[in-house]
Amino acid sequence: MQGTASEATLVAMVAARERVRRTLGKEPELVAYTSTQAHSSVLKAAMLSGVVRGVSDDVHLRQLGTDGVYALRPEVLEQAIREDLAAGRQPFFVCASLGTTSSGAMDPVGAIAEVLKRTGVTAAGGWLHVDAAWAGSALVCPEHRAMLEGLEAVDSFAFNPHKWLLTNFDCNAFYTRERKALLDALSVMPEYLRNAATASGAVIDYRDWQVPLGRRFRALKLWFVLRHYGAKGLRAYIREHVRQAELFASWVEADGRFELATPRSLALVCFRLRPAPGEEPAATDARNRQLLERLNAGGKAFLTHTVLPGVDGAPARYVLRMAIGSARTEERHVRAVWEQLAALAKEA
Ligand SMILES: Cc1ncc(COP(=O)(O)O)c(C=O)c1O
Repeated sequence: MQGTASEATLVAMVAARERVRRTLGKEPELVAYTSTQAHSSVLKAAMLSGVVRGVSDDVHLRQLGTDGVYALRPEVLEQAIREDLAAGRQPFFVCASLGTTSSGAMDPVGAIAEVLKRTGVTAAGGWLHVDAAWAGSALVCPEHRAMLEGLEAVDSFAFNPHKWLLTNFDCNAFYTRERKALLDALSVMPEYLRNAATASGAVIDYRDWQVPLGRRFRALKLWFVLRHYGAKGLRAYIREHVRQAELFASWVEADGRFELATPRSLALVCFRLRPAPGEEPAATDARNRQLLERLNAGGKAFLTHTVLPGVDGAPARYVLRMAIGSARTEERHVRAVWEQLAALAKEA
């Protein structure tokens, strides 16, 4: 258990750095990869671990362009890796996202793993981390497990029960295939921590899997959630949110003034007012921004927004986000938001 997805990514990146160094027996110039849609915590991890030389170093962290549904493109990754290898740099870490923050996009984990194998990155000790911070909770439902395709080839996987699995902040579940890599990167043994149980291997010292020494008992609250709801209850909870999001998306699609900005992802719907005929993209964005501001100013609902990059040369789009994930959200609340949006759209 880590505190947050940010810490999970940092720990994975530090383990990867050490594993590549040991595998190659030298100190290479390291490069990490992710998509433009990955969470900013990947950049922060690269800053903390000294992989990048500042926030705009795009040589050592390559944030790659995505496809029409905002997923990382394996062929773009492969090209970037080959360019770096040819330039004498060492690819060492890829962070794939299952459920990007902006739009819930799913990177193709299996195809990414294949690229790492094909380019020799895996053999050099390279690491594939999966950040499923929000979407990972949906894996309690068998019908959402298609996103796990290729999981057998990843080095670590993390999700936040504190985001969508009824667990209070903070709680990140971090799985790794190779705990030795974490130990190699993070173990320290000062005199005052020496003890017989550690020396004999009778206990696992989780301090060697994380940044802090001390640990909160996060597993306890997660355990109570699991015991209280059971697998059935958790599935019902996720399914109800997904159902509400499906309904909301169907209303958006049925109203000619609106459109989905990208396909619904689980319980997240990105949508916007359609452009009027001949309208400049900036004007459509402005109308959508105004719609969101007016909705939020009403004080009854609070939606967030994002900007999605343009696809195939199209301009970027300002979009609204209907994110359903609260234990108390019911269909009537979602319907009320839609009714408010539909009323405000008359003046937009
Ligand atoms: C995909 C993704 N990764 C990481 C994070 C960061 O989460 P945390 O606050 O647990 O570090 C978020 C938060 O929104 C996220 O959506």
